[in-house]
Amino acid sequence: MEIWTNNDLWLHKNLIKEDAALTKASDAIKNTNLPQMEVSPAMGKFLYLLAKIAGAKRILELGTYYGYSTMWLAKSLPCDGIVISLESCALFADMAQENINEAGLSDKVSIIQGDAAALLKKLIVEKADPFDMIFIDAHKPSYPEYLELSLLLSKPGTVICGDNVVREGELPNISNTSPIITGVREFIEALGTLESVESTAIQTVGIKGYDGFTLSVVK
Ligand code: DHB
Ligand code: MG
Repeated sequence: MEIWTNNDLWLHKNLIKEDAALTKASDAIKNTNLPQMEVSPAMGKFLYLLAKIAGAKRILELGTYYGYSTMWLAKSLPCDGIVISLESCALFADMAQENINEAGLSDKVSIIQGDAAALLKKLIVEKADPFDMIFIDAHKPSYPEYLELSLLLSKPGTVICGDNVVREGELPNISNTSPIITGVREFIEALGTLESVESTAIQTVGIKGYDGFTLSVVK
C-alpha cells in the first residue's frame, strides 16, 4: 500500500495545493486520536471541481466531521452560494464551525447539528429549495434512507455523490450482513434500480487505502 500512499502524496504536491486553513485543520486532527476519516486532499478537490462543473449554488452535505470536505465544497461556491452541512456529533460540529470561521468561510456554510435523517425530514417539511449537489458521507447503515430523503431535496440535474462505498470489497459477499455493509449495499442497489437517477461508482486507491464513491445525476 505504501506505493499508493506515496503516489497520492506526490499527486497532492503537484496538483492540489490546498490552502493554509485546510492544511491547518487536517494537521490538527493528526495530533489527536480522532480518526482520519475525512476525504483525502485529492478527493476534496474532486468534490470542489465537481461542484464547479455542476455550477452548484446550494450544496447539502451529510456528515461534516471537522469540516474538511465542507471547506472544499464552500470554496467552490459563487458569493451567493451555501453549503448546508449536517453533523450528529456536537463536538465535531463545534470543531467544524471553528475551522470554517478561521478559514473565512462562515458566510458560505451553515452547520446544523443533529441526526442527518431527522434533519433531512425537517428540510423536506419546511420545503427547503432543492440542492444542486448532495454529498452523502454520514452514518453508513443509513445510506439507503439518506438517498430516499435526498431525492426529495433534489431536482433534475442534482449531483449526488456517496463516499466510502467500496468497504474492502465486501458488498458482493451477501453472507456479510453487518449494518455498514448492508446499508451501503442497499444504497448501491437502490441507485441501480431507481428510474430517477443515472449512476456510476469509481473505486479509488491512495492515502486512505482502497476506497470509492458513487456519482449520480438526477434525471
Ligand atoms: C469512515 C467514515 C468515512 O466517512 C470515511 O471517509 C472513512 C471511514 C468510518 O466510519 O470508518
Ligand atoms: Mg467519508
